[in-house]
Amino acid sequence: MKKIKWGIIGAGIIAERMAAALKIDPESELVAVASKSPERAAVFTDKYRAVKACSVKACSYDEIVSDENIDVIYVATIHSYHFECARLALEGGKHILVEKPFTVNAAEAESLAALAAERDLFLMEAMWVRFLPVQQLLKKILREGRIGDIRQITVSFGKFVSPKFEKRLKDPELAGGATLDLGIYPISFLSFLLGELPSEINSMCRFSESGVDEIADYTFRYPSGCIGQICTSYNLLMNNTVLIYGTKGCVEYPGFPTGNKFTLRIHNGTNDMISDEVFSEKHQENGFVYQVEEVVRCLRDGKTGSPVMPLEDSVGLMKVMDRVRKDWGLKYSWE
Ligand SMILES: NC(=O)c1ccc[n+]([C@@H]2O[C@H](COP(=O)([O-])OP(=O)(O)OC[C@H]3O[C@@H](n4cnc5c(N)ncnc54)[C@H](OP(=O)(O)O)[C@@H]3O)[C@@H](O)[C@H]2O)c1
Repeated sequence: MKKIKWGIIGAGIIAERMAAALKIDPESELVAVASKSPERAAVFTDKYRAVKACSVKACSYDEIVSDENIDVIYVATIHSYHFECARLALEGGKHILVEKPFTVNAAEAESLAALAAERDLFLMEAMWVRFLPVQQLLKKILREGRIGDIRQITVSFGKFVSPKFEKRLKDPELAGGATLDLGIYPISFLSFLLGELPSEINSMCRFSESGVDEIADYTFRYPSGCIGQICTSYNLLMNNTVLIYGTKGCVEYPGFPTGNKFTLRIHNGTNDMISDEVFSEKHQENGFVYQVEEVVRCLRDGKTGSPVMPLEDSVGLMKVMDRVRKDWGLKYSWE
């Protein structure tokens, strides 16, 4: 079967991981990498060719979006450039996978969704952890009602980000802050598990000296009645654990968002637990492969969106993050 031909826009850190995943997937082929800097594109492609022993060309943004040999483009630039790059690629007639957060705000997200619909093109946010087998299994178990009705979920997700990411995270001119970079994971995760977006939103943050949210807490109520509590930070080491409480039991999922096991505990309607079971899934070392497989599957099936990471979720999640930023008075200079 003909391979799906990929291009990447943005020759940075995360693009390398994606390029490695594309090499693993037998149905994908990386054809070109574009950068604003010809030198950066050349260094990236030289390294890829040397390590992966395959051909890939370095090019400009204009060249990649008009390359007839490319089916789908992965947008791997920093957040503040997602909209511009994805729009350019959609206008060039390409299917798109965009890194998280989908865009900087909901207006940009809606504009991309409308353009993709108008051109009948595939568009998906690269929320790769949703495709990890363990998260798929967890969702299945919750859907089966194993812990009854889900009433409360708490997630902590905070770490000292490595210096290579820190500059971007702290800079308001690059849409910095914990919410768009890290908070998006638990915010998206809760909507993934529950299959709904929050209907009530409360939040609080601590600002960094540079004027972005360095610690953020959100409390959400969902239409089902579930309450979600999330804390996140780019400079606090947190527990990185998910606790899901239902009417019949609870789930503990450590190592969020990439942990590969969780514990399911069932009680008997009192404070006594009657069972305790650990579920685990083996993950490929490069977890991006699962989202690559999803894109390939969707394109082969002629879909314009993924049922696992639907566009409505991406737009809705941007609205949630717009709302918390609005409540804090955090507006980026170009908004
Ligand atoms: N899925 C994940 O696990 C994961 C992990 C980390 C990051 N991410 C996401 O991936 C995206 C890229 O993150 P990254 O850490 O890979 O970023 P990065 O290496 O710092 O930059 C990626 C690309 O963005 C452009 N860029 C960087 N700084 C810029 C600036 N100051 N002005 C204009 N363009 C700039 C460059 O594109 P050109 O080469 O075209 O110039 C660069 O190659 C972010 O949106 C981030 O949220 C995802």
